[in-house]
Amino acid sequence: MADTYLNEYTEASTTSVTEKSDSSSGPIGLDVGTSNIVMAKSHGSKTFYNKQINAYFTIPQSKFTRQILTKNEIAFFEHNKQFYIVGDSAENFANMFNANTKRPMESGLLSMREDEGIAIMQAIIKSLIGRPKKFGELICFSIPGQILENEHGVTSTVEGHESVIKIYLESLGYTAISINEGLAAVMAELADNNYTGIGISMGAGLCNVCLSYMSVPVITYSIPKGGDYIDMKTSTDLGVPATHVKSVKEKGIDLLGLPKNKMDLALQIYYTDVINHLVNSMQKAIGSSDKMPKITEPIPIVITGGTSKPKGFKERFELALKSIRLPIAISSVSISKEPLYTTARGALAMALIEGK
Ligand SMILES: Nc1ncnc2c1ncn2[C@@H]1O[C@H](COP(=O)(O)OP(=O)(O)O)[C@@H](O)[C@H]1O
Ligand SMILES: [Mg+2]
Repeated sequence: MADTYLNEYTEASTTSVTEKSDSSSGPIGLDVGTSNIVMAKSHGSKTFYNKQINAYFTIPQSKFTRQILTKNEIAFFEHNKQFYIVGDSAENFANMFNANTKRPMESGLLSMREDEGIAIMQAIIKSLIGRPKKFGELICFSIPGQILENEHGVTSTVEGHESVIKIYLESLGYTAISINEGLAAVMAELADNNYTGIGISMGAGLCNVCLSYMSVPVITYSIPKGGDYIDMKTSTDLGVPATHVKSVKEKGIDLLGLPKNKMDLALQIYYTDVINHLVNSMQKAIGSSDKMPKITEPIPIVITGGTSKPKGFKERFELALKSIRLPIAISSVSISKEPLYTTARGALAMALIEGK
């Protein structure tokens, strides 16, 4: 299992140090995302992170394989005469077989159709957090906002998803509370602004938005578009596998540069599509809300999540923002410095405050 230790505000890929996550007690923040599950814990003034890919791969059951997997501390469980390899190891196995991993979540929510989906998520979560050292330890986990314009026909509900996770965490011995994913971005990044502003988390399945006034989520929602949508549309246009698109995209694209090839062009087009969809949804949801607080000061927007990582993303977003009208002035747009870890850090901040 890949344990990651980060200094606050440093990018994971550049400074990951293989220092084992500590086994001390203390509140936990947990980011349950479509493509990554991340836990955060604090130790003194430092924050520890641990991440697993939210995916699985099945292989045939055998006694010998069980021994090897156990010896190598690979997270797996047995079901229907198969071994389900979960988390980061699933990707290694899938690569060996030249196949794709599967995911227990789609569009931000647990798929309730497959019963193994729940068991897989539980196994990944357990491999990250284990049982608490102190019974009743507080854990705060992220949940998406209600999905607007659910044209993709996501059948699971946020409530169902939330209660399955809560019940599981409590069965491990934790006291579990949830936090909206957009609010987690605000908790992580906007302390200097009294937790007032708009937090946006752009992940694989969803973009989550939260307008927070002094840490109170006033408006929350999500749209069913994110990194997966960009991969899928580009893949269909070019006739190449979505996993290939995803790996090219994650190697680092520039949203402002001239496209060098068809893939670059398609990625820019669908990035613009997602950003436009997002800002238009903000105009609709925030512009038309009767819940809108009468804030006279301009408020900041903070954006996080893997989909906000490309070069030029901020400029593209700011450009799109100019095309809409919001009933509130925006003071600044910023991208969090560690987009894959911010939600977990915000959930941890909430757990630390609530646990006092
Ligand atoms: N460098 C990158 N550039 C563009 N997209 C990225 C990059 N790194 C990760 N992503 C995308 O970010 C998404 C995962 O981000 P994350 O915030 O963990 O999502 P989720 O919360 O849905 O699990 C995936 O769609 C992934 O392809
Ligand atoms: Mg996320």
